[in-house]
Amino acid sequence: MSAARQVMGSSYMNWAKTRSTAKFNLATSGLGNLKLRELRVSLDDLEITNGGYGYQPLVESIATRYRVDREAVMTAAGTTFANHLAMAAVIEPGDEILFERPAYEPMLAAALYLGANVKRFARRFENDFHIVPEELASHVSSNTRLIVLTNLHNPSGVLIDEAEIRQIGEIARSVGARVLVDEVYMETLFEDAPRTAFHLGNEFVITSSLTKAFGLSGLRCGWIFAEPELAKRMWLLNDLFAATPVHAGERLSVVAMQQLGEIGARAQELLDRNRTLLNEFLDTREDLEAIRPEFGTVMFPRVRRESSDDLCQLLRERYETSVVPGRFFEMPEHFRIGIAGDTAVLEEGLERLGRALDEISRG
Ligand SMILES: Cc1ncc(COP(=O)(O)O)c(C=O)c1O
Repeated sequence: MSAARQVMGSSYMNWAKTRSTAKFNLATSGLGNLKLRELRVSLDDLEITNGGYGYQPLVESIATRYRVDREAVMTAAGTTFANHLAMAAVIEPGDEILFERPAYEPMLAAALYLGANVKRFARRFENDFHIVPEELASHVSSNTRLIVLTNLHNPSGVLIDEAEIRQIGEIARSVGARVLVDEVYMETLFEDAPRTAFHLGNEFVITSSLTKAFGLSGLRCGWIFAEPELAKRMWLLNDLFAATPVHAGERLSVVAMQQLGEIGARAQELLDRNRTLLNEFLDTREDLEAIRPEFGTVMFPRVRRESSDDLCQLLRERYETSVVPGRFFEMPEHFRIGIAGDTAVLEEGLERLGRALDEISRG
């Protein structure tokens, strides 16, 4: 079996789908799913068939919202597929790419699946999970085709600001590489979100979706921003993958995009309230160290022990509460905790997390 075929799935996604559920689920990273009835939509808004490359009203809505040219927009089924397609269009088997660590595992798995020669650069807890440009520069070479990162960072929720992203773009440009930035969590800054890094230069390829900030994962409304020639290559390549999207989903996505202001305002209120709760909880725990971002839906605390696995297991088995074990992010001494669920669930989950931590420390 060739190296490219050694990765045939995502261990994290499999865990998330089969073993993350709990009465007090703090493992999720996106707003709770909206119900169809919460969107003001009627059957008359829907249609099931559309031809050609892209549903223009949807492409137009995305282009307008992010102030990018229509020719630079490609639509895809969620950020997941956008990431896959973006990497498939940019890299060939054996190409060297530089991937952040810790990383969102399904994205890393897709790069390995595509046969990339994956090298890593660190985002360290000690450095607040920021990227050190000098260190990144020391990893790139004329062989580097792509640098891959998330902003906000999954799992830490840390924002890389425009000046830092610009520096990363310059490093990539100096060796003729591109930068893929998954910006799906940037949406959780709502009206305060900085502009997409796509505006910073043609070396940037951006992916995102309506999944995390708006509870609209089910629409699979994702997109890629890429320079028009590359975007066109992606549309053509997509003929080998999805070929034609579910048109009713595209129609629903256009309707949803008209309502993002209200949906986002409710979500922001919830996140602000829940972030305060988590920060108050962290204030009371000397056994946890955490970088505490002002934005986003997740934090990635460190337990003062080798692994969080026993804590996560105890928490789920005895306290009906789940968080994501840090091993899925290659940092087993951490765990990821999400704040995008119901406030009452978070409150109870935190209380149970405190009890589980106490139990572990008693040995
Ligand atoms: C960094 C990152 N990208 C993409 C996704 C998936 O997004 P989507 O549901 O739009 O495919 C996730 C979900 O956890 C994520 O954390």
